[in-house]
Amino acid sequence: MTTNDQNDRAAWLHGPPANCSVPPEGDQPRWRLVLLGAPGVGKGTQADLLHRRLGACHLSTGDVFRAAARNGLCEPTPAMTSALEYMRRGELVPDATVWEMVRERAGCLRCGGGFLLDGFPRTLAQAEALNRAMQSDKITLDAVVNYELPLTDIIARLSGRRVCEKCKAVTHVSLQRAGDDGRYHHCGGHLMQREDDRPEAIAVRMDAYDRSTAPLINFYKGLGLLVPVAATGSPESICGRTVSALAERTTRSGR
Ligand code: AP5
Repeated sequence: MTTNDQNDRAAWLHGPPANCSVPPEGDQPRWRLVLLGAPGVGKGTQADLLHRRLGACHLSTGDVFRAAARNGLCEPTPAMTSALEYMRRGELVPDATVWEMVRERAGCLRCGGGFLLDGFPRTLAQAEALNRAMQSDKITLDAVVNYELPLTDIIARLSGRRVCEKCKAVTHVSLQRAGDDGRYHHCGGHLMQREDDRPEAIAVRMDAYDRSTAPLINFYKGLGLLVPVAATGSPESICGRTVSALAERTTRSGR
């Protein structure tokens, strides 16, 4: 396992013409993982920590859509503009739009540094499309980590989440100190609430998760890839639990 704090994700966030400024080292062990779990369970937080532990790149489909919304990072195609409307309401973006966006970035899936897919796949159709693409590239997933947390904790994480307007860091109101005055203590940027973290959008997202994404748990269990991990406790303890579960799986499978 390796450490690499640099994770500019340029090729993923900006699209096909972009190059990462810090390409992964060629001889590091690569991990190809999917992070599953309900909205707000902490997938993005874990992806950041796992990137530092495992070196694999954090690839979030939600981040690509948010980058497009900020203008300039992605071409605002009509499909992307409509995707942002779905996202604001808390609904899933149609499979065809999501797959087109991922397919354009397939180089990131083939990258020697491996990947941590966060927020994709989210439907059976997306999971099957990913399987077909990986098979044709002769690459395989190492595991699918499923983060589990009671609904009340999930709602508390989502409704208290804040994003720094300046550095884009994700934090939580419970981590703010007295006197921070709505600013992120690391850089002083204003803390904003994501539009889809409003209560009405959270309800729509949880419903979409139950109907479309939860069935992926059985899909990946059937493929022998599922690694369940309790998402309780501190982010660092969850990350440690994840790395241990992956190591145990590796030992068992002789990877
Ligand atoms: P996306 O960005 O993927 O959102 P999500 O899956 O709903 O997940 P979140 O980003 O809300 O939560 P998270 O699990 O990453 O939690 P986080 O680490 O931030 O997708 C957004 C939208 O884009 C979708 O609704 C859809 O419209 C569209 N979309 C994206 N991909 C799509 C696809 N493939 N198909 C169709 N549509 C797609 O943590 C949450 C909060 O908890 C934070 O405040 C954090 O600080 C805090 N926290 C984290 N860990 C802990 C801990 N251990 N203890 C206490 N607090 C914690």
